Amino acid sequence: MTSVVTAAAGLRICFVIPTYDEAPNIEPLLRHLAHLHPSPETAFLIVDDNSPDGTAGLVRKFSSQEPRVHLLEGERQGLGSAYLRGITYAMDVLGADAVVQMDADFSHDPSDAGRLLERIAVDADVAVGSRYAPGGAVDPHWGRGRRWLSRWGNRGARWIAGLRGIRDCTSGFKAIRTTALKCAGIQDIRAQGYVFQVALLHRLQTTGARIVEESIYFRDRERGQTKLGAKDTLEFLLQICRLGAAQYRNVWKFGLTGSVAAAVNLGSFYYLLELGLNKYLASPIAVEISIILNFLINNHWTFGDRRLAGPRRVRGLKFNFIALLTLALNYAIFVTLSLLFVEASPLLLQACAIAPVAAVNYLVHFHWTFREAGERF
Ligand code: GDD
Ligand code: MN
Repeated sequence: MTSVVTAAAGLRICFVIPTYDEAPNIEPLLRHLAHLHPSPETAFLIVDDNSPDGTAGLVRKFSSQEPRVHLLEGERQGLGSAYLRGITYAMDVLGADAVVQMDADFSHDPSDAGRLLERIAVDADVAVGSRYAPGGAVDPHWGRGRRWLSRWGNRGARWIAGLRGIRDCTSGFKAIRTTALKCAGIQDIRAQGYVFQVALLHRLQTTGARIVEESIYFRDRERGQTKLGAKDTLEFLLQICRLGAAQYRNVWKFGLTGSVAAAVNLGSFYYLLELGLNKYLASPIAVEISIILNFLINNHWTFGDRRLAGPRRVRGLKFNFIALLTLALNYAIFVTLSLLFVEASPLLLQACAIAPVAAVNYLVHFHWTFREAGERF
């Protein structure tokens, strides 16, 4: 295997370390890191939010002998916001090719950073220091409550926010290539507290970053105390729901559009009858009006953020074709169910037919009618 020094040598690395009241830890940590990473291309950025215990002063003092140490100060707005400011500064001002985010309290062993950097130098965009990958662990001193919170936080991130294939979604120890960060558009992340870790991974995963995990041992801090509070937990819950809902945004927009179209179908049918049209003619006209409206809303709103493939009229024809096919499919299922369950309520059978048909309808429109330019069917 390539050694850390040679593999990561070409990369300008910046450690981004947020601090709030880390006076007892910051100097030993910086000493340790500076010793382990002697390259002049490596920088250490401390993001301190006016810690009352004078952390910033200690950093300033240290940086007078070690010019690779930088200090970014600001108002306290939470861990996520500190990270966002720090990472942006590392990329834009310090010109980093890769950042390593880690805690200042020695919970993340400074000597593990090398392994993370090696992974992004060799085969990944993101290397997560993982407590839950095989070989990883948390300090036995961690209380039951903290373990429980961490375990369920991780499940929430996977099951609700939709992160896939990552065992430690809330880890605060990662090495990330800045190309992946730029691609992910991280400046839009609205996570103030600890949920930032999940929001960041979510962005990276949805924008196609290659994410790997390296097992770590997470030691409980010896000095100072955790800043994780109830507000963070509440924000965590809200944010993972928001991230999850965003994934299904197309689904609910499509559903809403369908409901509007159904109402318009009935409304125009009524209006056409009022105009004196024969009901056998009014019905298909009303259907066609609702199909066209349904198409236009989906085209401009539901899938409006896509670079859609092909001209609009072709999409319109496809949409119409699928709508009629859907009608036939719905009818076929309804008739089959009616023959199988003679006693059952027709309303129930119609409802049973609608559900799978709506799903098929959505999938076909998602992957075919409104597919993105360049995407294969
Ligand atoms: N600038 C700044 N502003 N730094 C902060 C803030 C803040 O508001 N809040 C916390 N920090 C710093 C701390 O000083 C420390 O260096 C680091 O962020 C982590 O904070 P801790 O309070 O030690 O977090 P923890 O040990 O409870 O949580 C760890 O595990 C979580 C998952 O279980 C961290 O690694 C989290 O990032 C991780 O999500
Ligand atoms: Mn900690």
